[in-house]
Amino acid sequence: MKVDTSNLKHLAIIMDGNGRWAKSKGKPRFYGHYKGVLNIIKILREVYKLNIFCVSMFCFSTENWNRPKDEIDHLFKYIETFFKKNIDEFIKKEIKINISGDISKLPIDIQKIINESLNKTKNFNKMVFNICLNYGGRDDIVNACKNITNDVINNKINLNDINEISFKNYLYTKDLPDVDLLIRTSGEERISNFLLYQLAYAELIFVEKYWPEFNIKDLHECINIYNKRKRRFGGL
Ligand code: IPE
Ligand code: IPE
Ligand code: MG
Repeated sequence: MKVDTSNLKHLAIIMDGNGRWAKSKGKPRFYGHYKGVLNIIKILREVYKLNIFCVSMFCFSTENWNRPKDEIDHLFKYIETFFKKNIDEFIKKEIKINISGDISKLPIDIQKIINESLNKTKNFNKMVFNICLNYGGRDDIVNACKNITNDVINNKINLNDINEISFKNYLYTKDLPDVDLLIRTSGEERISNFLLYQLAYAELIFVEKYWPEFNIKDLHECINIYNKRKRRFGGL
């Protein structure tokens, strides 16, 4: 199947349903996270093949701290392993890693491997993998407001220079295009505090499958649906 991605620069994914998937298999929730994290690289490889410039994946939200510590610890371990296992592939493929979210709250080992990945891929521009970790859309906007205010106070920018475009430079997704397509798995139809500013005109697709079973064919189907949508951006 030929998949046209010429109008798709930024794909965002809310990878939801790991826990329910595990439960449906009679397994503990963390097994779902294990399989879910393994699925990230499969989908990322396909996104790369399809020549999509940027993919954002929601790995851990600012609200996910409300979960049991044991579950959070397992998830972070899998994410740490994910970076360790795949960093060489990111470098080989010239995939730039971008992190959205405050990683200073994460375990130190994971911070180290993330910082190494950021450093080693910072000069690439073929594709961006935006990993959203301890990310919240509201936190992103509030943080941007603080930083922009600071720049005004220090005379780095004028109040009159703040506009919808310049504001973007203060978000975690600085330099990335607006989201074109958002896919959420697991049947839930909500944004859950993901990229609020960046999603303003994104097309939304909700799929029933749980994230660990979302595959390349499902991705192709979503993109084909996206290509049939008429995006008007408020015009006619
Ligand atoms: C998504 O799966 C992964 C994270 C939120 C970290 P969930 O863990 O939310 O799985 P469900 O939605 O409870 O099934
Ligand atoms: C959104 O899923 C966050 C991630 C996928 C990382 P949640 O499972 O946390 O969202 P809610 O609680 O169902 O809205
Ligand atoms: Mg969930």
